[in-house]
Amino acid sequence: MKIIIRNAENSDLTGIINVHVETWKTAYKGVVPDNYIQSFIIRTQHKTWQNQLKIMMKDNNFFVAERDKDRIVGFAIGGLERSNHPNYKGELMGIYILKEYQRQGIGKALTRKIIEELIKMEINNMLVWVLENNPYRAFYETLGGKIVDKKEHETLRLPVVAYGYDDLKDLLKKSCFLNVQNIITM
Ligand SMILES: CC(C)(COP(=O)(O)OP(=O)(O)OC[C@H]1O[C@@H](n2cnc3c(N)ncnc32)[C@H](O)[C@@H]1OP(=O)(O)O)[C@@H](O)C(=O)NCCC(=O)NCCS
Repeated sequence: MKIIIRNAENSDLTGIINVHVETWKTAYKGVVPDNYIQSFIIRTQHKTWQNQLKIMMKDNNFFVAERDKDRIVGFAIGGLERSNHPNYKGELMGIYILKEYQRQGIGKALTRKIIEELIKMEINNMLVWVLENNPYRAFYETLGGKIVDKKEHETLRLPVVAYGYDDLKDLLKKSCFLNVQNIITM
């Protein structure tokens, strides 16, 4: 199995939505109320969702992880921080990997790509908002993130915490960001 990390294209939309939906089902069960998960799935099937993704692709750094050139198994979106945060200029806006492909280094490879793009934009810090009760928070902590902010999710009304990364250039030197076997970054 070979995983390629590359820029997302419009033809990836179905695969991206599939990853988003399947990951929500597996990762957020018991974390987010079932009726919210159901309404999220319905929203992703509407044309407006696809159009919003296309806009996200144009305005941000949007990468997919593709297996053997035939299946999208993960994606990540990053770019300028969206709320004019006083301390953080870059943001990892979302990252999702299908359950059966987790813990194989794909999350790290996608995050590395997002960081590299932020550095090209001369941005050297970033944050990522995560549900406080998200069972995957350890991922952000392994990469050296520290909780720097907290608020309530606008629609879910659940607490979310922000992990901050203060020096992206330095972060990329961490050994965990070295190339992972079988993952090719383009
Ligand atoms: C969180 C997520 C993006 C991580 O991606 P991944 O490809 O599984 O992560 P990696 O394999 O690159 O993991 C890197 C390191 O992070 C840590 N880590 C990752 N997932 C972890 C978990 N569930 N529990 C504990 N540590 C974890 C480990 O230290 C891991 O290294 P190791 O496997 O050598 O021990 C992915 O699991 C996912 O999509 N989760 C569900 C959706 C989600 O919560 N997304 C974030 C919301 S924006």
